[in-house]
Amino acid sequence: METTYVALVGMGTVGTGVAQLLLDLGDRTARYAGRSLWINHIAVRDVSKRRQADLPQGVITDQLERILHDPQVTLVAHLVGGIEPARSIMLALLENGKDVVTANKALLAEHGPELFDRARHLGRTIAFEAAVAGGIPIIANIAQCLAANKILSLEGILNGTSNFVVTQMDEGAGTYQQSLETAQQRGFAEEDPTLDIDGTDAAQKLAILAHLAFGVTIRWQDIPRRGIQNLNLEDFRLTQALGYRIKLIAYAKLLDFGLQLMVSPMLVKIGTPLAEVRENYNAIRVVGDAVGPVFFHGQGAGAMPTASAVVADMIDTALGRTKITFHNLKLWSDRESPVKVSDVGKLPGRYYLRLVVHEQPDVLAQIAEILGHHHISVASVNLHDVTQPHDAKVSLVIMTRETREASLMAAVSEISKLPFVAAVAERLKVLD
Ligand code: HSE
Repeated sequence: METTYVALVGMGTVGTGVAQLLLDLGDRTARYAGRSLWINHIAVRDVSKRRQADLPQGVITDQLERILHDPQVTLVAHLVGGIEPARSIMLALLENGKDVVTANKALLAEHGPELFDRARHLGRTIAFEAAVAGGIPIIANIAQCLAANKILSLEGILNGTSNFVVTQMDEGAGTYQQSLETAQQRGFAEEDPTLDIDGTDAAQKLAILAHLAFGVTIRWQDIPRRGIQNLNLEDFRLTQALGYRIKLIAYAKLLDFGLQLMVSPMLVKIGTPLAEVRENYNAIRVVGDAVGPVFFHGQGAGAMPTASAVVADMIDTALGRTKITFHNLKLWSDRESPVKVSDVGKLPGRYYLRLVVHEQPDVLAQIAEILGHHHISVASVNLHDVTQPHDAKVSLVIMTRETREASLMAAVSEISKLPFVAAVAERLKVLD
């Protein structure tokens, strides 16, 4: 049987999973690949650290050059997080004739055009199935399996940490802070989970998926985004009573006037597949014009799910499949985008609005007048939590009918100035 000699750079959680799959289950990989993938080197920062995989002697090194200058090694799994030195390492691998498989979504979202241009120029490839939604094969599905479709929309739960937290809150297991602590204790959240809970991680993944699905090149920083850090338990309770769960949704929809992109907590109807995605799981619903809706569900992080995607990419690269896809797709090249990204203000949608107001007889009339002025129809109004008989504050929950994001924002701005409005406590789009 033929052998492809490979190397790994980085041996954190994912690197350990990849090494275990290639070493412990090498026969299985060889059967699928029709060749064995043999690890020549694993480059790490600290060679003295204890490793969870049973590695052959002499494989571990802190010298990247051993990989760069080993002519036998043609394929490298690049499993280094962050931007630098991850970017320089990837460039060095490409310059030295190695095809690359990576799990680093932040690097691709930030430097995709530079890295892909370089790879194309050098006749090399970059495969990145593991960069979005871990073990879910969403890249291959969008780029290859759904290639006959015009993608119409894509709605995803792309961050496991934040989905774990909102699941806990939805189930009444704790406040935001308590739920985040549980996520950390159970090993789902990083020690510093900032980029997970503020929507950055999901926006980076959405930028990659939107590029594949719609051909747009968008900086992740330009995707309007809101995280889960300011969500309140009261809204989980109130939205549940209305038949919805709150989920952090990465959203892309092709409309007549352009592509709408955003990352935000949204209301998702209980009983629909996305609403029932629990804990650290990820899911993506894609609608294609030929296929209709398709739904992907699975683990978006963790050693073995992510390693599953990395090793599949290694097999594809060793077999030459990546080369065909990579060069045909022309990802992040200077080709013109077939669609334009539209101003989010035009985004149509229904909204959940929770106002905290001081009770007085004309509260509803004044709010209704402002909404009417902005052509916003109301579907339902509910009052909650009367705390005192006189001069009490109440939560006023309004569900709107379909309007535009910009109209809602303008109305909310006027409503917030009404003297009896103590706070616009929440504003969430309904995922329809
Ligand atoms: N930290 C990410 C998550 C996994 O919680 O989903 C890596 O992308």
